[in-house]
Amino acid sequence: MPSAAISKYFDATENRNIRDDLIFAVDKVTGPKVAVDCGCGAGADIQYLASNGFAVYGFDVEEEAILRCKERFKDIQSVKLSRSSFSQYEFPNVSLVVADASFFFCPKSEFPSVWRKVYDCLPQGGIFSGSFLGPDDTMASSKYNPDDFWPEVAVFGEDEVKKLFAKYQVLRFNEHRTSGAAPGGDLHDWHIYSVVAKKT
Ligand SMILES: C[S@@+](CC[C@H](N)C(=O)[O-])C[C@H]1O[C@@H](n2cnc3c(N)ncnc32)[C@H](O)[C@@H]1O
Repeated sequence: MPSAAISKYFDATENRNIRDDLIFAVDKVTGPKVAVDCGCGAGADIQYLASNGFAVYGFDVEEEAILRCKERFKDIQSVKLSRSSFSQYEFPNVSLVVADASFFFCPKSEFPSVWRKVYDCLPQGGIFSGSFLGPDDTMASSKYNPDDFWPEVAVFGEDEVKKLFAKYQVLRFNEHRTSGAAPGGDLHDWHIYSVVAKKT
């Protein structure tokens, strides 16, 4: 049973705006239009990818996310959904890996093997588009209540994020620091690194 906060989050984000990074990343894909959306949530990015001609594999640890997406994409055969954690998921071969705001919740001890799977599922020239939680985000502080959302938070320093991309060509790297109301209403300080990169 997801928390009320998670359901509220899915309600608030199912039709959210598509981030510039994903639009940019889609434009950089040269291989077959096949993508995986890691931690797909309510499916905003899947919708964008499918409407741009991509076959999309989406997975999420939350049953509610997968049920919502199954209903939402029931008429689109090329969207394949699975309930899975990052560490359990068997990544298909794709040209684009999307992980928007989702690796924020990958247990740090599991991240190295997940990151290896991301690398392995991409061909040379394949594209990664995603974001990482910085140390000054509200979720990285004691104000984060793991009972409301997902139990573990993975925080990355800037150098640590940059090191992840040693075997990629970084096409875009941005640090975002903003404050305001989070989906659901609470005040939030965001500190996020977003990256679009090409496997070399
Ligand atoms: C902040 S939401 C982002 C959702 C979506 N990517 C978006 O941008 O709208 C984080 C997502 O990661 C999923 N998630 C959390 N822990 C996970 C795990 N261990 N494995 C897979 N997905 C996970 C959550 O269920 C949630 O849908």
